[in-house]
Amino acid sequence: MNIYDVIISRRTIRQFEPRPVSRAILEKVVNAGRLAPSAANMQPLEFVVVDDEAVRKEIFPCLKWAAYIQPQGDPRPGHEPQAYIFVLVNARIREKMSEYDVGAAIENMILTALGEGIASCWLISIDRPKAVEVLGIPKHYRVDSVLALGYPAQESRVEEFVDSPKYWQDPDHTFHVPKRKLESVLHFNKF
Ligand SMILES: Cc1cc2nc3c(=O)[nH]c(=O)nc-3n(C[C@H](O)[C@H](O)[C@H](O)COP(=O)(O)O)c2cc1C
Repeated sequence: MNIYDVIISRRTIRQFEPRPVSRAILEKVVNAGRLAPSAANMQPLEFVVVDDEAVRKEIFPCLKWAAYIQPQGDPRPGHEPQAYIFVLVNARIREKMSEYDVGAAIENMILTALGEGIASCWLISIDRPKAVEVLGIPKHYRVDSVLALGYPAQESRVEEFVDSPKYWQDPDHTFHVPKRKLESVLHFNKF
């Protein structure tokens, strides 16, 4: 698949196979995040990878899934993520504009994972105090986002956006995500 095909086929996945993701893949994914564009090239981001089963079990309750359809969108027992990548901002380097860096790094990581057959869900609904405690994160770091990863056990399709951004899920966990049409978001030359 070329890059464009990977990008347009990417969908958020919240059900995963009970099959581990190798350290080699996780390192490759973080490396892609490390090399993302960074405002003023300050590189304030650091990453905590969680792949240990016991730590994963502590992290899972810190996360909220698919707010529009809670709790049906939660990973089912046995289909939880096999790894998490916490994206931290080191405030001693720079906090200002770090959200841009996070966005670029996470998309790099999502696409790199996809290239290895690994699906993911980007989360910001995080019980941060609890996650900080579980992971022992020092005070000068801000927990921005989590990328949950694993081999996919769910399909997700783009649907035509009618009047609501709300996604939905079939009983077999196939996901449907409305996206605005190209004509309604694209303006050539003047608006
Ligand atoms: C900044 C950001 C935060 C998100 N936070 C969550 C979250 O906390 N929990 C969750 O289940 N999904 C989360 N998502 C995933 C979105 O729900 C998902 O991207 C959206 O529904 C569109 O689906 P798609 O990624 O398949 O295109 C987040 C996505 C972004 C970009």
